Amino acid sequence: MTDDHLAEAGYLDVPSAAGGSASRGWWDANAEEYLDEHGTFLGPGDFCWCPEGVREGDAHLLGDLTGLRVLEVGSGAAQCARWLVGEGVEVVATDVSLGMLAAGARYDGGVGRTTPMVQADARALPFADSSFDVAFTAFGALPFVPDADRVHAEVARVLRPGGRWVFAVTHPIRWAFPDDPGEAGLTATRSYFDRTPYAEIGESGRVLYAEYHRTLGDHVAELVAAGFVLDRLVEPEWPTGHDRTWGGWGPVRGARLPGTAIFVTHRGRPPR
Ligand SMILES: C[S@@+](CC[C@H](N)C(=O)[O-])C[C@H]1O[C@@H](n2cnc3c(N)ncnc32)[C@H](O)[C@@H]1O
Repeated sequence: MTDDHLAEAGYLDVPSAAGGSASRGWWDANAEEYLDEHGTFLGPGDFCWCPEGVREGDAHLLGDLTGLRVLEVGSGAAQCARWLVGEGVEVVATDVSLGMLAAGARYDGGVGRTTPMVQADARALPFADSSFDVAFTAFGALPFVPDADRVHAEVARVLRPGGRWVFAVTHPIRWAFPDDPGEAGLTATRSYFDRTPYAEIGESGRVLYAEYHRTLGDHVAELVAAGFVLDRLVEPEWPTGHDRTWGGWGPVRGARLPGTAIFVTHRGRPPR
């Protein structure tokens, strides 16, 4: 995959199957570069929800986890799960990329913790029905699959009724703006309603990377269809004095536009 050089990038109608399966190879090939760039900010054993720097230790979006079993999907190097391990929480981290999980094993050694990690596509979780009380992801899996409804359905299946599902994604409004943290990122250049994915294609014609857009309404519709109830939608504001940029995130855009949406939901109970 690294020898398949980039030939084309942009908003492209790529076949869904190819787009959805591209991320494993892309994250394997780019795990080290990604963690070199963002690993220090994320912290090897810290729970950071988003580029705005919201930490679970302050925000408590998962609620009281005492005695609960927790699942992280699209965990990357499992920094969030590792923080939970340090808090004494029973947690399993899952990710489709072995490269990211290998980095996670290295982080475990560095901080002296053992984080249970399993390689799994979030669309086919290798766990029994109702086997977790809480599930979450911070920017994992959902943006990289054409069929996020399958992720929600799988999470609903492995959660007990009433169990909490919390996920952070790029705020949908960001899709309309260029991925630029400066002034150029403040002018909408695309339709918010255009769901054509952003994709990168190799010289071989293979899809190397794909990222999918969902409007706010799409996210809510997918949640409701999977049987979730939306409790809260968190739109973190850019903190004063936080100067670090991450892709299109940064203080200039953060002063005017939201960059992250965190959905706090729970699995509805079946009607009696
Ligand atoms: C931006 S990282 C988020 C992880 C971590 N919170 C972080 O900030 O580094 C995205 C992660 O989603 C994972 N991912 C992409 N598609 C996936 C899928 N279908 N199932 C599970 N994980 C997936 C990638 O391998 C990657 O580790």
